Amino acid sequence: MTVTVRAPAKINLHLGVGAPRPDGFHPLVTAYHAVGLCDDVTVADADTWSVHTKLPDWIDPGLLPADGENIVDRAAELLAGFHGVPRRGLVSVVKAIPVAGGLAGGSADAAAALVALDRLWDLHTSDTDLLRLAAQLGSDVPFSLVGGTALGTGRGELVTPLTDRGTWWWVVVPSPEGLSTPRVYRHFDELVPDAPERPPSADEVVAALASGDPYLLAAALHNDLELAAVDLRPDLGRLLERGEEVGALRGLVSGSGPTCVFLCEGADHAREVAGALTGPEHPVVLTTMGPVAGAHLVEYA
Ligand code: C5P
Repeated sequence: MTVTVRAPAKINLHLGVGAPRPDGFHPLVTAYHAVGLCDDVTVADADTWSVHTKLPDWIDPGLLPADGENIVDRAAELLAGFHGVPRRGLVSVVKAIPVAGGLAGGSADAAAALVALDRLWDLHTSDTDLLRLAAQLGSDVPFSLVGGTALGTGRGELVTPLTDRGTWWWVVVPSPEGLSTPRVYRHFDELVPDAPERPPSADEVVAALASGDPYLLAAALHNDLELAAVDLRPDLGRLLERGEEVGALRGLVSGSGPTCVFLCEGADHAREVAGALTGPEHPVVLTTMGPVAGAHLVEYA
């Protein structure tokens, strides 16, 4: 049997970060938004366990984790352990989400692997248990299951769907080099030593989403990690300025970066902005839209 599950990249439309908790994680209030850049995870019956990853030519294979340390391996181990079944299967991950880019590509793969292996092994895991296992794999993994547009609290793992009346068009500019999420959070702590215990609320973005108006959303976009990401990578600051100069409603670092995203008025506008940003410094510029579904089955044979 072969099962393919697709899972989307995410953008944080609002990322409010508080002072680190005793466990080292930062409390978050975030508005997650799933966009149409997706990874596909295909699992098939096999006697042993193996994971193979296919990358587009513009993603550096050096950014991938070493064999056996992939979040897909951990997802499978966790699911198999939870049900007391052996971990076996042949897994193929076809990536289109930039690696180490702040778009939760690894989280998407973990969520897709959980759903695909649940089907392959005929486990019938409840939604509650899947979300709980997902949270153990990473702060963003529950959202990769849920998709759409949703509020994230806790360390990001507590997800509640939001009313979203828009179809939002984005230009996505990946960076050839990755940026480590823990490093960006550490730098945030250095730059903002007096961060509040309770992160800034997402109310403005929540209201803009309900209005469906891209100008309101552009004005409301907010990322507390942007300061740290741009300080570590000044080229991102220049890219954000350039995107707004060529007409994007607003540029924003995605999550912990280094991918930058630009909100546009619609599909044609996004294509224009993408065309203007494409060049020797940024040979790969993508356009996409959201919200889209979380991890979902696309093939079952
Ligand atoms: O949960 P996840 O494995 O994605 O987190 C990766 C790293 O990002 C953590 O080890 C931590 O350094 C940082 N992080 C954080 N606070 C969060 C989420 C992530 O400090 N809410």
